[in-house]
Parts: sequence; structure tokens; C-alpha cells
Amino acid sequence: MTSHAAQAAVAAFVRGDKTVAWSGLQGHWQAHGRDLDLREIFKSDPQRFERFGVQAPEVFADLSKQRWDEATRRLLLELAREVGLEARRDALLAGEPVNTTEGRAVLHTALRALKGQGPFSDDVHEVLERMLAYAEEVRAAGFTDVVNIGIGGSDLGPLMAVKALQPYTQPGLRSHFVSNVDGHDIAPLLAQLEPAKTLFIVASKTFTTQETMANAAVARAWFLAGGGTDIARHFAATTTNVSAAAAFGIDKTFGFWDWVGGRYSLWSAIGLPIAIAIGADNFRELLAGAHAMDRHFAEAPLEENLPALMGLLEVWNRDFHGFTSRCVAPYHQGLARLPAYLQQLEMESNGKRVDYAGEEVPFATSPLVWGEPGTNGQHAFFQMLHQGTDVIPVEFIAVREPAHPHADLQTKLLANCLAQSQALMLGKTADEALGEKAPTASPDIARDVLARHRSFPGNRPSTTLVLERLTPRSLGALVALYEHRVFTSGVVWGINSYDQWGVELGKALCNALLPRFESGDVTGLDASTAGLLRRLRG
Ligand code: F6P
Repeated sequence: MTSHAAQAAVAAFVRGDKTVAWSGLQGHWQAHGRDLDLREIFKSDPQRFERFGVQAPEVFADLSKQRWDEATRRLLLELAREVGLEARRDALLAGEPVNTTEGRAVLHTALRALKGQGPFSDDVHEVLERMLAYAEEVRAAGFTDVVNIGIGGSDLGPLMAVKALQPYTQPGLRSHFVSNVDGHDIAPLLAQLEPAKTLFIVASKTFTTQETMANAAVARAWFLAGGGTDIARHFAATTTNVSAAAAFGIDKTFGFWDWVGGRYSLWSAIGLPIAIAIGADNFRELLAGAHAMDRHFAEAPLEENLPALMGLLEVWNRDFHGFTSRCVAPYHQGLARLPAYLQQLEMESNGKRVDYAGEEVPFATSPLVWGEPGTNGQHAFFQMLHQGTDVIPVEFIAVREPAHPHADLQTKLLANCLAQSQALMLGKTADEALGEKAPTASPDIARDVLARHRSFPGNRPSTTLVLERLTPRSLGALVALYEHRVFTSGVVWGINSYDQWGVELGKALCNALLPRFESGDVTGLDASTAGLLRRLRG
């Protein structure tokens, strides 16, 4: 596709609800989708697992426990074609300014493209080489602690990845992440550190974010007060705003570009703490995994294109079934922060209510994304998933081979994971419950009443993603899968997934309130804000 044609594809966007396929999906939902019963459909189609299993690089997805059928999938693929998903994808990958409200390209894929390929290759690889060489220097320099100070996309990606890749990290070199402007975040950490053995990375795309600048100032003051003198050795910055970093006193700076969105930036210099933790070769593996998923997204036919299918399913679940949230349950402790990472990736990207043309959309966009690792979630909120009044699709992530020697724990973990998706789907009727023993039940409760308490509706949908092992490569592929899925849903919804104006108002009001905390002046404030301000000032 020529650059002009790609640009035109973005400008002439077609919103999902204006398509023939959308009406087809509405009719299909009324006639079949609403009443589709997973138990029945599995009985009538023994090949369903094969039919709805998709293999992408590093990730297998079982989509057979979703409440859809062949006709749904066909209509969703028609929807994708009518909204021009492939042309829009090509425009994204070609570096067209798909972030129209900021007039920017969106090119996180260029950060993991091979040298000599993809837009801005020379710039990307120059910074990458420099950053990886610096990461290796730091690993050899005798530091014991690396503290990343950043928030949002300048925190969540590196934090999530370093935790996930813990077995690849260098012993004796600890990684820490400070994000909150709440001093309870940084203060206890500083109390454990030695200035002479600590490296601070100030990570901020803009280098203006209040929380990060405030924490960086605290870190610098602590460093100097503790006898530190060599700021150049102990502070580095990752930012697009190199001059602001220099003004802060940092000259070891790794830059990136406005076409890297904060929540898509872990592949850029923002990934420095990951590179320090796991080393240059492993960081390249992370990029390679993401690149493999990029190729899959760019080249696989939509019928077998996992990010596209998952993005379309999201639309089906959100706009036709009306499910309001999605639970992400990684059955791997290393992925404990993945749900938090995905909250920003998905909800900051697709939590929008107007389309590209500024028209309010008449359908729901991003679901609430939330979750915790299994099995812990099972002993907390899974009760609601099984018996609550809302139907909440669950995304299980299972990793076949562990990075520890405790085979028995791994078998139990995987059995739990499978059992949960099975239980959500199968449920249990009151009749089945009636025939069971319930040792802790009250002797005073009627048997049929108890059976109703102990029944499960079932037919609750889930997806299970399977990774062979959690490696830098498979993590890269997994995260890129989510990025492209977000893009796909955003295209169908006709929204700009790459701006985040919704965070502005709170920032502006905070800046306006700050001097009032000094002065105590509450003139013009609403009564609640005024009352709370007086109380909080003490
Ligand atoms: O929350 C808004 C936001 O702009 C995010 O998109 C971004 O990841 C985060 O703040 C941090 O911004 P910066 O990297 O510029 O400090």
C-alpha cells in the first residue's frame, strides 16, 4: 500500500456499527449467540477445540470456550474486512499518523524490527546498541541496586517484565521501581540503599510528569546528602526530552521519539531497567519475540491471525453479549503484574467515547480489565466469577514448563488452571448439587434450598493462552499479542487508541489545588472539595 493510500485508509475510517456485518452480528446474537450453550456446542462438535485453537508465535490460544460459533467468527471477519482492518494495520506499520489527535505515527513495532528494516531503523538501532552497551557496563560496574523512577508506561512495562523474567536476572543486582508520588513508595526503599552502590534511572517520556520529577528530586537530594558526588555515574535518564534531563543534571541519557506511546514503550530506552536486569542478549530475545508476533499480525490471514481474532472477540463480548469486564488470570507468579500492565495498555488505549471524527459512539468500548495470578484469585474473587450475577470472561494464561524444580507444584498449578475454565463452562445444576454431600452445611437448611446455593449456572466463557516456557522471547510475543489485539478492537470501534486526553483534567486540577494547600484559600471551590481540603490541611 502506498503511503498516500494508507493515510487515506485512516482518514476514511469506517466505524464498526455502520457496517452490514454489525447488523448481521446483531441478528445472529438474537437468533443464536444469546442462547449459545457451551456445554451443548461441545457435545455437538467434537472438533471444536481444533476449530477454535490458534497457534501464533510462542503463544497457543484456545478460543473454543468463548460463546461464539463458526457463524459468529465468519461475521466478525466480515466486520474486520468492512472496517478495513488490514489497510488500517498496514497504515499503522508504515508509520502513517494514525494518532490523529496528536498528529503522530505509532511505531512501537519499529523498535523491534531487524536492523535495516522498518521505519527509523538507523535511529532505533543506534540508541538500542548504546543502551545495551550501557546495560552491560552497569552489570559489570559493581552496583547492587538499580532504581527506576517512572510512572504509567515508564514503570509498568519494565516492572512487569523484570518480575516475569526473574530467572534471567543477574544475582546480586536488585531492581526496584518507584512510581507513586506517595512518599511511602520511595522512603522505605531509600532506607535500604547505599548511595555508592545505587543507580537511579529517571524514566519519563516527557520529563515533566509531576510524580516522576518529584521522586527524582528526592532521590538526588538523598544521594547528595548520603555523600554521593558523582551524579553522572549514579543517574541516567530515558526520555524524549533530552534537554530537560540535562537541565536536571543528568548527562547519561537514552532518547526515544514521540511516535512511541508511553504504554507501548518498554521496547525503547524505557526498557533500560529490563536490559540491565536480564542482559543485552536476553533483551534482544524479548524484541525478537515481539517482532515474530508483529510478522504474524502483519502476514497471517485474518482467519488465523490471533491478535485480530482476539480483538474481534472482544468486540463480540463487549458489544453483543454486553460483558463489562474481562479478568486476566495468569497461572504463573512471574506474570503477577501483567494484569496491571494490561490495565494501562488496554484501558488507556481504548477507554474512549468519541470516534476519529469526534462523534460520540453509541456502543461500549474498552471493558474493565483486571485480575490476579492463579491460584490466589481462586481464593478471593473467583466466587463471583462462578456464582455472581455478572458474566465475566476470563483469560487464563498457562505456562507448560516451569523455571523451578518442583514438578508437583507445577502439576497442581496447571490442574487448577484447567479446572477453573472447566468449572466456569460446565457449572453445576441444582439437581446435581442435591445429590452431593456438603459436610459443612447447616443441618437446619432445607436440602433443595441448599442445592440452589450450591449450584453454578456455568456457560461462562474463557480463553486459555498457553506458553511453552516463560522466556524473554515468549514474553515479547505475548505482550505484542495484546498490543495488536487492542489495535484491532480500536479499529472496529473507530477510535484513536493512541491518545490519552482523559488523564489531563485531573493533572490540571491538581496543579490548581497545590497552591491552595499552602494558602488554605478555598474561594470558589465546591463545598465538598473545600471541606476536604480544610480537613486534609489539618
Ligand atoms: O497517565 C498518563 C501518561 O501520560 C501515560 O500515558 C504515560 O505512560 C505516563 O503518563 C507517564 O508519562 P511520562 O513517561 O511522560 O512521565
